Amino acid sequence: MLFDAYSNSALTFANRIVMAPMTRCRADHRDAVPNDLIAEYYRQRASAGLIISEGVPVSDRARGYLNTPALWNEAQAAGWKQVTDAAHGAGGRMFAQIWHCGRVAHAALHADGSAPAGASIKPAATQTTIPGPDGKPVAADCGQPQALSIQEIRGVVAEFAHAAKLAMQAGFDGVEIHGANGYLLDQFRCPAVNNRNDAYGGSLANRYRLLLEVVDAVAAEVSPERIAVRQSPYGLGNGMVADPEPLVTYPWLARELNQRGIGFLHIYCQTADWIHDATHSMMPALRDAFHGALIACGGFKTAAACEAILARRHADLIAIGKPFISNPDLVERLRRAAPLNKWDVPTFYGSGARGYTDYPTL
Ligand SMILES: Cc1cc2nc3c(=O)[nH]c(=O)nc-3n(C[C@H](O)[C@H](O)[C@H](O)COP(=O)(O)O)c2cc1C
Repeated sequence: MLFDAYSNSALTFANRIVMAPMTRCRADHRDAVPNDLIAEYYRQRASAGLIISEGVPVSDRARGYLNTPALWNEAQAAGWKQVTDAAHGAGGRMFAQIWHCGRVAHAALHADGSAPAGASIKPAATQTTIPGPDGKPVAADCGQPQALSIQEIRGVVAEFAHAAKLAMQAGFDGVEIHGANGYLLDQFRCPAVNNRNDAYGGSLANRYRLLLEVVDAVAAEVSPERIAVRQSPYGLGNGMVADPEPLVTYPWLARELNQRGIGFLHIYCQTADWIHDATHSMMPALRDAFHGALIACGGFKTAAACEAILARRHADLIAIGKPFISNPDLVERLRRAAPLNKWDVPTFYGSGARGYTDYPTL
């Protein structure tokens, strides 16, 4: 099953293995244009049924890290076109993961020095990287966010829609809206962060209003079967606080996405435990609520582990992250049950070709 094709009404993938979105910080921060090295990295990994790109900021203020290739102008779209051409030339399919970091950011990352954007003024208790005195990245606490005004929220929705339009122009096969991992859209969902009294805070419908407005605006640019939404139930990364009712929250969103005919709901289990537990209620609850494809991610390292969750129908596709960093031919290695190269954590972010395009194939 894992090595069988997957199709919906708009798309066909050669197998059910998805390369998970992974930020690798190999662009120049000033223009944030994807370069030849980035194209080569994705070309090497195009035997995945689908590649989801690293998080791609939708505006300058959406940036939360140094050197992330972005998608808010024509030059960036032209850079991505080189990347999608490379992936397609090698037989792959590729979505852009469109991203707003919100409060997980620092004013020093923004060309105009603007403060991080927040659902509220509560800062993120986590760190990012900013340019040091010699231009080299240094760690820094995330900055003090400003709560977005209603007008600014409309601007964010428009930025996502614009990025989606540019993504199609750049030859992507679809887009993934990054609603997970404690970034802006997840900050709005989280009742411990979002203390707003307006239409974007309070009830679950209000806290998911921004995400659903983004989905609707993106769906005006990209057909719904080509859209994925990423969520991270139970995730505590980037200063998130446990959701009080996860088995209400995430199925509620899944039903809303289902009504809109969205193609993919991508579930990242940050702790890599419950998603592998056949008795856990989350994936069956999402399956009941959502009739597009469920993508499962977190800790999948063998074909057997992937086949197990596919066989119990808790997922249709499996996204794999770190093993894809160190194994460009991961699909072939899983097929042959061949040993995997180990990944090198110090070269995850930055470092040019080292730890990026120089991992050996079988
Ligand atoms: C270096 C690195 C960068 C990541 N960047 C992103 C990102 O940009 N967007 C995102 O949604 N998840 C990101 N993730 C999370 C991965 O998509 C994936 O969910 C995680 O690595 C768990 O999968 P794994 O156990 O197969 O590695 C990143 C993970 C790593 C290791």
